[in-house]
Amino acid sequence: MAVERKIMKVLNGETLSPPPVWIMRQAGRYLPEYRETRATAKGFLDLCYTPDLAVEVTLQPIRRYAFDASILFSDILVLPDALKRNVRFVQGEGPQMDPIDAEGIAKLDPSGMHDHLAPIYETVKRLRQELPEETTLLGFCGAPWTVATYMIAGHGTPDQAPARLFGYRDRASMMRLLDLLADMSADYLLQQFENGADAVQVFDSWAGVLDEDCFDAFCVQPMKRIVGKVRAVRPDAKIIGFPKGAGSLYRGYREKTGVDALGLDWTVPFSFAAELQKEGPIQGNLDPLRLVAGRDAIREGVDRILDALGNGPLIFNLGHGVTPQADPDDVGYLVDRVRGNA
Ligand code: CP3
Repeated sequence: MAVERKIMKVLNGETLSPPPVWIMRQAGRYLPEYRETRATAKGFLDLCYTPDLAVEVTLQPIRRYAFDASILFSDILVLPDALKRNVRFVQGEGPQMDPIDAEGIAKLDPSGMHDHLAPIYETVKRLRQELPEETTLLGFCGAPWTVATYMIAGHGTPDQAPARLFGYRDRASMMRLLDLLADMSADYLLQQFENGADAVQVFDSWAGVLDEDCFDAFCVQPMKRIVGKVRAVRPDAKIIGFPKGAGSLYRGYREKTGVDALGLDWTVPFSFAAELQKEGPIQGNLDPLRLVAGRDAIREGVDRILDALGNGPLIFNLGHGVTPQADPDDVGYLVDRVRGNA
């Protein structure tokens, strides 16, 4: 690598001051240019599967803010889509698909996944060519548990009760689904690396609804399986794990799964975050609502994070995705504040 990308340095354990910064869902509806491009696509999935459009929306936040990382524009639900679960994004209603049961799980066939996902690999390749040299390119996928929650319910739910019930009633089928998703995810991430991703993040957005036993079985073990399969091919692959809402179960997650960095949500206290940071890089963890609340809330939040965690390996980020209500100018302010320019 000719240029040393800042986020790669942090993932290798270095402390940078100021820390590098990017934000989850940085390409999205808070940006007018995203809404404009989105309106030219037939649907959300067409946006994901059309390299011209996906490259464009991925680059939009980089042009505006020069974030230190660019994250591939796609969605975690392209894997169920590749499994022919009839995924659709209904405006205002969130994602939907055909709900799956034990019989459906037994019939799942991942054999056509790489053909289905080829346009995404093309997007990754073009992004690495078009991005500034210094910008880290992140690939991603959903964690098996989080993807499974949508597959089982057929839509988003506030507490993932359908998937949790399924996990208690038919653990064998649940593990069969999670293992299949873990294997697909590892193959999918490897293709992203192959096409130019520098590092990847695995989003486990619903890790926080599980008891200790289920957290280990449904989140930790599948994540360990993904990391193991990816590293068997690419021993130096850098992987960020984001078990959102894991609370005290963040302790031990890095060690048990083998991820390089821990993505922290905004409920993680700084004292605990600092402990986790002694064991390796962390990423986070500004409450996305601070971005909506305005500059005082942003300044206070950013400064507290820099004070508490800036002396160790940190990738500055939000604690979850930016919301459509955020003001694009305030996102610029956040980046300036982190970089000491405001
Ligand atoms: O971060 C980025 O900029 C990369 C793109 C990205 C998207 N989704 C684009 C998107 C990433 C990394 C995701 C991950 C994702 N998708 C997660 C995990 C992270 C998280 O936020 O918890 C989850 C759970 C999903 C599933 C999903 N996709 C949901 C719940 C929704 C929202 C539905 C809605 O209408 O609000 C989506 C749609 C989606 N994914 C949008 C974007 C920009 C908005 C759709 C649109 O433009 O109409």
